[in-house]
Amino acid sequence: MVESAPASQQASDIFERLSKSPEATEQFGEQLGRLLRAGDVVALVGDLGSGKTTLVRGLAKGVGIDPQRVKSPTFILLREYPGPVPLIHMDGYRVGEAPVAIWDDLDWVFSPHKITVIEWGDLVRECLPDDVLELQLAHKSANQRTIRAIAHGPRSQQVAEAWRQAAGAS
Ligand SMILES: Nc1ncnc2c1ncn2[C@@H]1O[C@H](COP(=O)(O)OP(=O)(O)OP(=O)(O)O)[C@@H](O)[C@H]1O
Ligand SMILES: [Mg+2]
Repeated sequence: MVESAPASQQASDIFERLSKSPEATEQFGEQLGRLLRAGDVVALVGDLGSGKTTLVRGLAKGVGIDPQRVKSPTFILLREYPGPVPLIHMDGYRVGEAPVAIWDDLDWVFSPHKITVIEWGDLVRECLPDDVLELQLAHKSANQRTIRAIAHGPRSQQVAEAWRQAAGAS
């Protein structure tokens, strides 16, 4: 995403935050979820166990969805959680094994009526819309993760700025 963004599409690093526990990552996700609206797309990039699904659990809570519904979609590729705004939770890890239909019907995946979050977004970057909020998660120690927000367009920039402010205020 950052490397492959066209020149016309400015990618701006908004901030990096340190999470010291799974609960902190969830809370961070919840802060983000409160700011999202239908049509927004968030791509999560990070190694196995870096906290992507943990962050989505909090994000769902912030959207108004029971976080206990959130399970990794690695093997089923896509889950949809009903809520005030439905949340689509996808996983790009097994994109090579995906039935073509899923990545063919992107109008359905990136619905203006739903929020979409994609784990392993770097593996499906050519399928993502231009204006995506990218979150890079990385291991720092057993219980510490860095979470870096990169905005790829005006809407994701707006969300990331608001998120930075919300995080600073907490
Ligand atoms: N600060 C932290 N933030 C998030 N998870 C943490 C943190 N510290 C420890 N963990 C642990 O790391 C693991 C993160 O798992 P999670 O399923 O969220 O990762 P993931 O990135 O979705 O992995 P996968 O690539 O397999 O989908 C959990 O076991 C969680 O308890
Ligand atoms: Mg996961």
